[in-house]
Amino acid sequence: MDTQLEQKVAAAREALRFINKETRLGIGSGSTVDCFINLLAESAGSRGTVTAASERTARQLETAGFKCLETAQELDVYVDGADEIDDNRQMLKGGGGAHTREKVLACCARHFVCIVDDKKSVRRLGRFPLAVEVLPVARSYAARKLTALGGNPRWREGFVTDNGNWILDVSGLDLTDATTMEKNINTIAGVVENGIFSLRRADVVIVAGSGGLQVIDKR
Ligand code: 5RP
Repeated sequence: MDTQLEQKVAAAREALRFINKETRLGIGSGSTVDCFINLLAESAGSRGTVTAASERTARQLETAGFKCLETAQELDVYVDGADEIDDNRQMLKGGGGAHTREKVLACCARHFVCIVDDKKSVRRLGRFPLAVEVLPVARSYAARKLTALGGNPRWREGFVTDNGNWILDVSGLDLTDATTMEKNINTIAGVVENGIFSLRRADVVIVAGSGGLQVIDKR
């Protein structure tokens, strides 16, 4: 497991242990999830119904022969990657700009299985810029408010989310109290959702590194 791709595949393969044919499954997005979809397609023979957190994931799943549900129902398991994850199973997500729907599916699920390579494991969240989805009309206002919270927001120019909104990538925020920051940012008018996953943490974390797999199971 020397390369990052090998590690992503190993973490994704381990996640298959947490699902079976009856599992009501939700799937996030990103390159680690791409590995999971490939393995799932092989193991499930590309049958079944799943809920996808992004249009891209839905297209991949449908191409592999799965049926995708349009709206989020109750889920047994949600599998997704992360941009950062700490020892308390709090995450930063949204590098792909899909964190709003990802959070909805994570909240619909009984168990959130997070699959990462060990470059994503951090002692403290905040090196990766925090993705904040905003209504286009609120971009400047939200940027000013995020600056007042200590951040340095940058517009992800040219990128439109699946919900038709824009993303501000915010560096420099103090995420020592990630739960409070998650709540505070979501009170800014025009903010749709931010990429802190502290209120809804992972239940299972699968970390793949050159030394092997580490599985933290808090279900
Ligand atoms: C997308 C996300 C992804 O889960 C996150 O960016 C991880 O992606 P990758 O597996 O490619 O590193 O939050 O919005």
